[in-house]
Formats: sequence, C-alpha cells, structure tokens
Amino acid sequence: MRKLIKRKASLSYKTVVLLLITLVPCLSNADYKSFKPTAEKPYYFEDGKVDFGTYNGFRRYHADCHVCHGPAGLGSSYAPALMESMQTMDWMNFVDVIVRGRQGLDNKVMPPFAGNTDVLANMLDIYAYLKARAENVIGPVRPAKFPKIKNR
Ligand code: HEC
Repeated sequence: MRKLIKRKASLSYKTVVLLLITLVPCLSNADYKSFKPTAEKPYYFEDGKVDFGTYNGFRRYHADCHVCHGPAGLGSSYAPALMESMQTMDWMNFVDVIVRGRQGLDNKVMPPFAGNTDVLANMLDIYAYLKARAENVIGPVRPAKFPKIKNR
C-alpha cells in the first residue's frame, strides 16, 4: 500500500516537471508581438496597455456603436449596457446580433450591420474591446496601446 502511494506521488511530480518544461517557454514568449486574438482570448493586456486590435476595437465602437450604447458602454435610454451584456455573451451570439440585428419587445431596434464592411471586418476587435471593458480590465477612456504588428 505504501509503495503504491509513493509511486503515485513520483508520477505526478514527473507530470508537473514535464508541464513546466513545456509551458514556461510558451509563457515567457507570450507578449503582444506573438499574441493572436481568438474568441476565447480576444484581448491582450499588460502594463496598462492593450494590443493594437483591442485599441482599434475602441475606435470602431466609438464610430459605430456608441451613439446608442453610450460612450462608456454603460447603455442609454435606448440601448442596453454592453458592459453588462458582454460579461456573459459569447462570440457566436455577438456575431449573430451584429450581423442580423435584433428587435426587442419594446420595439427598440439594434440595426443589422451585415452591409457595413467597416464593422464586419473589425468585429473581433470590437468584441475584444467590449470584453476587456466588461471584465473591467480597461476603463471608459481611450486605452493605452502596444504598437501595431506588421502584416496583421
Ligand atoms: C441605432 C442604435 C444602435 C446602434 C448604432 C447599435 N446598437 Fe446594439 N443594440 C441596440 C438596441 C436597441 C439593442 C437591444 C435590442 C433588444 O432589445 O433586443 C441592442 C443590442 C445589442 C447587443 C445585445 C445586447 C444584449 O444584452 O443582448 C449587442 C451585443 C450589441 N447591441 C452590440 C452593438 C455593437 C457592437 C454595435 C456597433 C457595431 C451596436 N450594437 C450598435 C441599438 C443599437
């Protein structure tokens, strides 16, 4: 019995070492230059700065969404506070609302953006910006940013 426990312990120790060997180089390389946004991790934040895409999302939000959803994402008398919605909304639902629009019960309308290439091409950036806002990583003002990475 004792032997068995010992063996188990040494196995998990090995696993931990193995994990460290594989993970540590990944972690130390993970900076804004190698960052690639995904639906699961759409923004990068370090030392008070966001990746350029998230910053671009801030600009796009203010060009196309803020008239209804408010300058700080806190909503208005017309449209809901995205700071709250985005805490739970996932990428697929986000895309669906933006592309097709939505009509609420009280006849307030989120217009479809299917014909707006500016919005469509920058949807992941807008998503990243709103997720960073909803998760309180950045505040309501223009965020500081890392430089743009070429060819992206
Ligand atoms: C003309 C005003 C208007 C504009 C512009 C607008 N929205 Fe909306 N949006 C609304 C309204 C109204 C709703 C709520 C519709 C409803 O009741 O279901 C909404 C809902 C949403 C929702 C769903 C929120 C939830 O809680 O389910 C998201 C996400 C959203 N908008 C994102 C955006 C983004 C991103 C942009 C800019 C690209 C944008 N909206 C531009 C009016 C607008």
